[in-house]
Amino acid sequence: RKATAQALPAFLLIGPSGAGKTSLLTLFANGTPSPTHTSQETQTATCQLPSSALASTDRYRSVNDHTHDQPQLLLIDTPGHGKLRHHALASLTPATALKGLIFVVDSAAVSSAAGLTETAEYLHDVLLVLQKKHTQSRTSKGSQGIAVLVAVNKQDLFTSLPVGLVRQRLEEEVARVRLTRSKGLLVDSGVGLTDDGEADDESNWLGQYGSKEFKFGHMEEYGVEIEVVGGNVKGEGEEKGRVDGWWGWIGENL
Ligand code: GTP
Repeated sequence: RKATAQALPAFLLIGPSGAGKTSLLTLFANGTPSPTHTSQETQTATCQLPSSALASTDRYRSVNDHTHDQPQLLLIDTPGHGKLRHHALASLTPATALKGLIFVVDSAAVSSAAGLTETAEYLHDVLLVLQKKHTQSRTSKGSQGIAVLVAVNKQDLFTSLPVGLVRQRLEEEVARVRLTRSKGLLVDSGVGLTDDGEADDESNWLGQYGSKEFKFGHMEEYGVEIEVVGGNVKGEGEEKGRVDGWWGWIGENL
């Protein structure tokens, strides 16, 4: 099996500053997380799927068959800082052929109201870009879906929230962000009012239009398949990180 450099499947790392994107990239690329600093620009690394994770293409291969090379992939890290997020969002243009998107969350930071809001705002905006991309491509050529992994990182910290709770709080907060944004639109434009006082801007509304609740599952309608999986890039003391679930997701989506 050959993997040509330009044809490597690509995954984008995205998420708020400090969530652990660069740590994850260096761990996946070098086998160990390097000390990182706030990223100023996008960086890319070639990684190899570990033998513990099966690629979807290898579903019928025995785990004990080591005659094949494990597949390679590209990981693209984006800066999380608010002022640099246009770099990340620009990577989502229809031109980029991405296999998937890994949205990294700091599961300790989201236990504070401010941390939760910051994370949910970014997640909302990313998902809305994906939704628009899907809606636009639907009218032209056949639209392709995209897989999104919400990587609930830093599960090693005792201040972290468990995965199920992070998922629930993110869904609730994204719903709140969505409502705030739609009111913002109203104020900005002064138009688009319907009889019941809602902003009539369906294309800027994430997920099921007008619905009160937001669930990640609602995004499937727009070709966005979301999975929420916990782990940690770093472990306590001598302990290693726990990233098998994320590798497993990458393998399934290669
Ligand atoms: P930006 O480059 O600003 O977008 O941030 P980033 O998302 O790339 O975060 P980075 O990888 O720089 O990690 C931020 C801090 O979190 C670093 O001090 C890491 O050592 C730490 N960190 C990352 N992952 C984990 C983890 O799983 N557990 C713990 N305890 N710390 C982690």
